[in-house]
Amino acid sequence: MTSDDHWWTESVIYQIYPRSFFDSNGDGEGDLPGITSHLEHVQMLGVDAIWLSPFYKSPNKDGGYDVANPRDVDPRFGNLDDAQVMIKRAHELGLKVLVDVVPNHFSDQHQWFKYAVASPKGSPERDRFHFHDAKADGTPPNNWISLFGGPAWTQLKTADGSAQYYLHLFDSSQPDLNWENEEVSEDFEKTLRFWLDLGADGFRIDVAHGLVKENILTDHHDPQGLSDALRLDVEMSADMRGELLSSVPFFDRDGVHPIYRNWRKIFDSYDRDVMAVAEAWVHPPVRATRYVRHDELQQVFNFDLLVAPFDAKFLFKCINDTLEMLHQVNAPATWALSNHDTPRVASRHGEQASRALALFVMALPGSCYIYNGQELGLPDAELADSDRQDPAFFRTKGLHKGRDGARIPMPWSGENTPFGFSAGKPWLPIPQSWRGLSVADQEKDLESTLHLYRSALAIRREHLVGTGDISWVNRGENDLLSFARGEYAVYLNAGKGSLDIPSVGKLAIGSNSKVTLTGGHLTLPPASSAWIATR
Ligand code: GLC
Ligand code: CA
Repeated sequence: MTSDDHWWTESVIYQIYPRSFFDSNGDGEGDLPGITSHLEHVQMLGVDAIWLSPFYKSPNKDGGYDVANPRDVDPRFGNLDDAQVMIKRAHELGLKVLVDVVPNHFSDQHQWFKYAVASPKGSPERDRFHFHDAKADGTPPNNWISLFGGPAWTQLKTADGSAQYYLHLFDSSQPDLNWENEEVSEDFEKTLRFWLDLGADGFRIDVAHGLVKENILTDHHDPQGLSDALRLDVEMSADMRGELLSSVPFFDRDGVHPIYRNWRKIFDSYDRDVMAVAEAWVHPPVRATRYVRHDELQQVFNFDLLVAPFDAKFLFKCINDTLEMLHQVNAPATWALSNHDTPRVASRHGEQASRALALFVMALPGSCYIYNGQELGLPDAELADSDRQDPAFFRTKGLHKGRDGARIPMPWSGENTPFGFSAGKPWLPIPQSWRGLSVADQEKDLESTLHLYRSALAIRREHLVGTGDISWVNRGENDLLSFARGEYAVYLNAGKGSLDIPSVGKLAIGSNSKVTLTGGHLTLPPASSAWIATR
């Protein structure tokens, strides 16, 4: 497969969190017209596509991942016309558009759930979800724990006195759908066609590994262990985590694959190159390749770099394993350093290391995902608990702070918060300490993270895309990683000391201005990276 075959093989995809991108009407929340009016920023960055987190009708208990109508726009974001205008503008600017699809659950405000609540036990309306009776002692049908903390079941007291429980892997406002019910699959096929007909070029599939549940009436032998193993912020030995994750009854069951084979047929029935990327946290990692077999999806997220330490040997293994694994199914690798669910890369590694890592990763074969604000080097923001909105914070009673820190609105211009994001009060406060990080300020500074990303993506597009595999030269010894690809040599110093490496060619780009190539010597200061044009 060469990069010319498909637009997505080596695409750079920019994730927009609609609520935090740009507010066009002063209500403090980003919206679709706001995105449309600021797409030039995205185009100038040099990416190929945008992916938008949900903007569908939703009570917004989980940032819109609680969908009340997947074929309509929530008024906070605008309306369907605004969506169409946004997609059209993106296409005019040469950007493909991916939208999110959330098939594991609906919101409890979806009319199907309202019907289910109003209908008796055993009714077809209840069969679209997972309704089950309590155990004899009145406790939930099994002992699974929600990914947001607390029990994965909530009991309904309804008029007929049945008091059944319904399953929710996430918040209690997100009832899981029963994928054995044909109406569920039919409804999602309708949703896919709806957005494709409106012009979308594909999808990011939320919790793609979760749709099928097994042993739903059986207790798990270690529910708390399983819940901890599924959380990346809980420390646990790799062996123990591996063992627990090999027995998750609600993730990565074989039954999810026929669903994606059907979806693929829908994608292929369009006369353009439609693609989908799966959010699938699976174990062992090689199971991810099952989602990108030739008749399934085109990409699967690789989350390793979201949690990897800035350590050369670790990074080597993580990158090399991913490349080898996906090679076997002839699917492109995907690389992501940040998203709306994890602490931002600049906070995890610091400014210089995150710039160095981003530059290094952008040279790799495959597809890169950039989360809005990552191109500005934004850190996570400190938030007062009173400002938090993430259900994970509330369901764990504050034990886990949640993901709001990575969802702060974008700073566009000006000296003071809210930095041009909104004429009103932003839904999450933007810290005044972000002064100087706005798009307008970084435009003026040639050494800014914004210029680093722009320059790197321009060189990538012109000289690296389509140049095939990499050949490793340094595999992490002495904190150094390096590889050759096409006519480029790419270096990363992940150590605390400066490295001096004999090198010929021309410095195409360095992660900061202290990276130099003179007299046949490449100088890489601590936490830096470089691309050298060798011919
Ligand atoms: C995915 C989303 C996350 C959401 C969850 C439940 O992991 O990325 O934001 O909370 O699914 O829909
Ligand atoms: Ca708004």
